Amino acid sequence: MNIAIFGLGYVGLTAAGCLTSQGHHVLGLDVNEEKISQIRAGHSPISEPGLDALLQQALAQGRLDVSASLGQRLADRDLAIVCVGTPSAPDGAHDMSYIAQVSQEIAAGVDPGRATPLTVAYRSTMRPGSIETLIAPIFEAVLGGNRDAVELVYNPEFLRESVAVKDFFAPPKIVIGTRDGQPSARMLALNAGINAPVYHTGYREAEFTKFADNTFHAVKVAFANELGRVCLKLGVSASKVHEIFIADTKLNISPYYMRPGGAFGGSCLPKDVRALRHMASEVGAGAHLIDSLMKSNEAHKQYLFEYCTEGLAPGASILLLGLAFKADTDDLRESPNVDLARRMLEAGFSLRIYDPSLKPAMRKTRSDERPSSQTTGAVTRARNATGGASRAAIPGTSSTVCVSEAASRTTRRSVSGSNFGASKTCRRSRTAAASAGKIASARGVNT
Ligand SMILES: NC(=O)c1ccc[n+]([C@@H]2O[C@H](COP(=O)([O-])OP(=O)(O)OC[C@H]3O[C@@H](n4cnc5c(N)ncnc54)[C@H](O)[C@@H]3O)[C@@H](O)[C@H]2O)c1
Repeated sequence: MNIAIFGLGYVGLTAAGCLTSQGHHVLGLDVNEEKISQIRAGHSPISEPGLDALLQQALAQGRLDVSASLGQRLADRDLAIVCVGTPSAPDGAHDMSYIAQVSQEIAAGVDPGRATPLTVAYRSTMRPGSIETLIAPIFEAVLGGNRDAVELVYNPEFLRESVAVKDFFAPPKIVIGTRDGQPSARMLALNAGINAPVYHTGYREAEFTKFADNTFHAVKVAFANELGRVCLKLGVSASKVHEIFIADTKLNISPYYMRPGGAFGGSCLPKDVRALRHMASEVGAGAHLIDSLMKSNEAHKQYLFEYCTEGLAPGASILLLGLAFKADTDDLRESPNVDLARRMLEAGFSLRIYDPSLKPAMRKTRSDERPSSQTTGAVTRARNATGGASRAAIPGTSSTVCVSEAASRTTRRSVSGSNFGASKTCRRSRTAAASAGKIASARGVNT
């Protein structure tokens, strides 16, 4: 394939070296003339194991050309890969000026009458919506009715500096965002030699992936360091704790507790997070991440309440599916769903609740297991509210809903299940029927 790479930094130059070693012909472009001279001389301007050798081989085999100016050289290219920087702007957002410049340059350099479109793949990290609201309009402005002369793709880069060459050939995944979420034939051909799971998606999901990844990595580092500081101050071996922690691939280093949906609750998580926060503060560990967890959880409960009740008429009737803190348990201690129910009642909605695990006879009696008076109140009202209802399953969830006799149209708003990025949708259902309003399913979401 004939490829142009814009931006010869850590990402672009690594891609140039690796792609040429796979037999592709690469034209590397960078505004920094000094970098260009160094690369021409066979020296990588960045320190990356294995890269010098790849560049020298590519130059010797005539597969790599580098330049500070594009000229008319897009004509014979199949693919342009954009790897220019997106540094932090003063307000913390990405500075998108290099992306805008290079997009303008590519759009101006494309022959509008090309026989096949030039695929333009963006690898720079940028916020969701960048392709649709910044980049596509630049191409449309320049190409007008010939917009199909280019195929815009977002293809995030997952390499780590210092092992970038290895990561290039063995990435954790390949994500390809396109306008319609369908595979791009050219990107499939480009990645044909790489053994990694491939995800085809829309632009925004592809753009967001990198934020999810990098932020999670930052959370992991901060979390590990906070635990490490607390351990150190308490005379606990942080490395032993780490060894045991990461060996648990069932609950710790695993997909569990990672699915967006409901708030955390139950008898253990809130209590133990509070106690660790207390310990950390006692020993002055400055554990800001741990400190923030309860606040974040409260913010999520408020969000769920607003999400579930948005647009409802005052006093509307709501059916809440599940009251315990997760499915298949009757444990109401610190259940976020009790909070949700309470907020709904306090806001004047008429609430019906169905939870198949809650039976009146199973009320806890031990003092440490007794629900708070607020909880008890909500449960009593909930129990009263469920009298005489029949049942129906909610498709796609493990929840059960209570259904009254007359089936009328009901807005069903689920806050459980795999909600990542999709849960704003309200589905209309004729099968369930709290006669006035909304069904909020808030079951067992984070386990
Ligand atoms: N460094 C990483 O490990 C890594 C990993 C994944 C993603 N990313 C993302 O990839 C992008 C590039 O990162 P990087 O670390 O390679 O940046 P970098 O600063 O090392 O390289 C960017 C290059 O782009 C050049 N450039 C700027 N404007 C240009 C233009 N108009 N035309 C041609 N070249 C131009 C600069 O001179 C520079 O050499 C960023 O968005 C970054 O967030 C980086």
